Amino acid sequence: MTTAILEIRNLHARIEDREILKGVNLIIPPGQVHAVMGRNGSGKSTLSYVLAGKEDYEITEGEVLLDGQDLLAMEPDERAAAGLFLAFQYPIEIPGVATMTFLKAAMNAQRKKRGEPEMLTPDFMRAVKQAGVALNIDNDMLKRPLNVGFSGGEKKRAEVLQMALLQPKMCILDETDSGLDIDALQVVAKGVNGLRAANRSMLVITHYQRLLNHIVPDVVHVFSDGKIVESGDKDLALQLEAKGYAEFDDAAA
Ligand SMILES: Nc1ncnc2c1ncn2[C@@H]1O[C@H](COP(=O)(O)OP(=O)(O)OP(=O)(O)O)[C@@H](O)[C@H]1O
Ligand SMILES: [Mg+2]
Repeated sequence: MTTAILEIRNLHARIEDREILKGVNLIIPPGQVHAVMGRNGSGKSTLSYVLAGKEDYEITEGEVLLDGQDLLAMEPDERAAAGLFLAFQYPIEIPGVATMTFLKAAMNAQRKKRGEPEMLTPDFMRAVKQAGVALNIDNDMLKRPLNVGFSGGEKKRAEVLQMALLQPKMCILDETDSGLDIDALQVVAKGVNGLRAANRSMLVITHYQRLLNHIVPDVVHVFSDGKIVESGDKDLALQLEAKGYAEFDDAAA
């Protein structure tokens, strides 16, 4: 049996005495793309934050394995070095640090943590430019401070650029499609599809079935009140679009 890239068992998490995750179970085998859809406030971003290791959350039960390793025992930077990547719903602005500089620092920090040598600047520049072309990210944008004054769509494209450079084994995309115009959606989807690989898995959180026409998922999950209540193939997303979440609320109760 091959090891799942991500295995979440009965995960419970709370913030300020309020339980948000109420028993999440999810297994993502290598190479698969899973989509998560669910109402506002159901806990989707919380799940991604807990996986990335954001503080503030108290894990009260459950376990998470990343490629067989105990993810919850790792610090956030160790998780990233181990191959976990989260593209934020609201990307963070980093004033004063050029996007290019940030990307290089992020990449070399991970390499260092893994005991790998730093990437040489010319090699890095080449890799960024190459990845940037596919995402319509030009030199001017790379010189600007990360995300500062970027439009919504530019921020999302910058997230996918980071992902393309870091080559994570588990990518979590939290509403990377929201706020994108039709062309940008295709650019982002192409970028994400280009990263699909046999040894890489993805978890795509979205509100829009439309995205799943571009990034076709292997499995679609419905998230409701802190857990996954239904899983199916891509037709489940169409069903949701047609009927809404009401019928799945009962399943959660
Ligand atoms: N610091 C906090 N204190 C109290 N409640 C919080 C805190 N952070 C998040 N929550 C609550 O946790 C719940 C889940 O939020 P989360 O952001 O995970 O939802 P979501 O499924 O990502 O929603 P959306 O689709 O709108 O992005 C919400 O009710 C939110 O108000
Ligand atoms: Mg969210």
